[in-house]
Amino acid sequence: EKSECVSLSPMREAVPTPSKCERVCVFGTGDLGRSLGLRLLQAGYGVVFGSRRPHSSSFLPHGAQVLGHAAAAQSAHLIFIAVQREHYDFLVPLANQLKGKVLVDLSNNQRKNQYPEANAEYLQSLVTGAEVVKGFNTLSAWSLQNGPSDANRQVYICGESVEAKQAVIAVATKLGLSALDRGFLSVARELEDFPLQLFPQWRLPLRIAIGLSAAFFFYLLIRDIIYAYVTQGKDISFRIMVSLANKVCPIVSLIMLSLCYLPGVLASFLQLYRGTKYRRFPDWLDRWMLCRKQLGLLALGFAFLHVLYTLIIPIRYYVRFKSTERTVSVIRENRTSEFDTMTAWRSDSYLSLGILGFGLYVLLGITSLPSVSNALSWREFSFVQSKLGHLTLLLCTAHTYLYGWNRFLSSSTYKWYTPPGYMLCLVLPSVVLLLKLLLITPCRTHTDTHKITPSVGWLPF
Ligand code: HEM
Repeated sequence: EKSECVSLSPMREAVPTPSKCERVCVFGTGDLGRSLGLRLLQAGYGVVFGSRRPHSSSFLPHGAQVLGHAAAAQSAHLIFIAVQREHYDFLVPLANQLKGKVLVDLSNNQRKNQYPEANAEYLQSLVTGAEVVKGFNTLSAWSLQNGPSDANRQVYICGESVEAKQAVIAVATKLGLSALDRGFLSVARELEDFPLQLFPQWRLPLRIAIGLSAAFFFYLLIRDIIYAYVTQGKDISFRIMVSLANKVCPIVSLIMLSLCYLPGVLASFLQLYRGTKYRRFPDWLDRWMLCRKQLGLLALGFAFLHVLYTLIIPIRYYVRFKSTERTVSVIRENRTSEFDTMTAWRSDSYLSLGILGFGLYVLLGITSLPSVSNALSWREFSFVQSKLGHLTLLLCTAHTYLYGWNRFLSSSTYKWYTPPGYMLCLVLPSVVLLLKLLLITPCRTHTDTHKITPSVGWLPF
């Protein structure tokens, strides 16, 4: 067996020799295995790679030893299995050498439910004499090579044996990672699904955003453009690009902003109704509250688009054409147009409220970023997210009410008996603000309700 040992280090003296430091073994010489080996060497471990062809394994980190699988397994107590599940069979004949060893299963799958049982459980069934620990599978070769950043310092492990898990946690700590014990090996399946998730908290908010945008786009297309074509034979389809977009964006933004605050007020009412805050919320409410930050950030994105679309209104060909035409007709007909102070007040007020609302909107977005929210105390954070959050909703809603003003009185507003988009989008924020008003008015039967209000803005605390 000794003849199998090959050292790939050109300068053996420069790295700690395996006899002096704790040895760990890595099975698998792919990207992940090599990167892990390098990190282990840098952390001061002696690393032994187990390979099918120890003599022809190349590109391994300097200082590592390469042995045949059996010899490598015998040389260390902890063995990282950086091999794909389909190749686990080679471990069966090594049952003797693997007895009592700790096997860390790093594997991942291509998709969910690819196999009937978790890879780690399968591994345990193949080598019953070893202690299998699932873990480190959320790390990529790339992050291992570049050193863990704050975001991916956390790794999860699970397994049956407490001692085996402790051995793995010790290695993780030395690598600068923090390992979280998630329990028994039956959790492995969940851990194996982690890397397969694609922006899990963004999925529902994105679906809501796409659904609302599509619904309002078609609604407004029919009301504004198809209506003009059918009733007056006018083709104003060019309006799709800016006018329609500048309606869909703020409408979706306002609805999604109110969806951030609705679960909070619903939860407060639920607590009032139950008379206690020490009971779990229903699952759907929990899930809803957990995606408030993403809902809020997407809503901010739509508001930002609305502001950009609004900024370009004066340079639009259509707008310039119309205003010149109006000026020319006033001159030609020798009319004088009266300045309407009321209209000036109204339009300045709705624009100003929009700007104030947008300013606070941006503040909410910034404070929901982890680096900023971590620097705030809980009180500061809940002040911004809850108090200023509801104020933002109030300002944006008032902006829209003032924009609509008294148009709801005119029958020409209701083309084909349908209300305009801005009226529809006012329903939800008005309900949320009304409910919030009920919660903060002092004349309640429960005088201490403000203490149990869980309604904190965008973040799930
Ligand atoms: C409509 C300006 C921020 C929600 C409008 C309109 C203008 C405007 C000019 C009328 C557009 C048109 O005639 O088609 C601004 C400015 C803002 C701002 C200058 C800030 C810098 C916001 C914010 C919201 C919002 C933060 C909240 C989400 C709305 C809504 C409408 C509207 C719902 C009605 C859209 C429709 O025509 O159906 N805004 N706005 N606005 N704005 Fe804003």
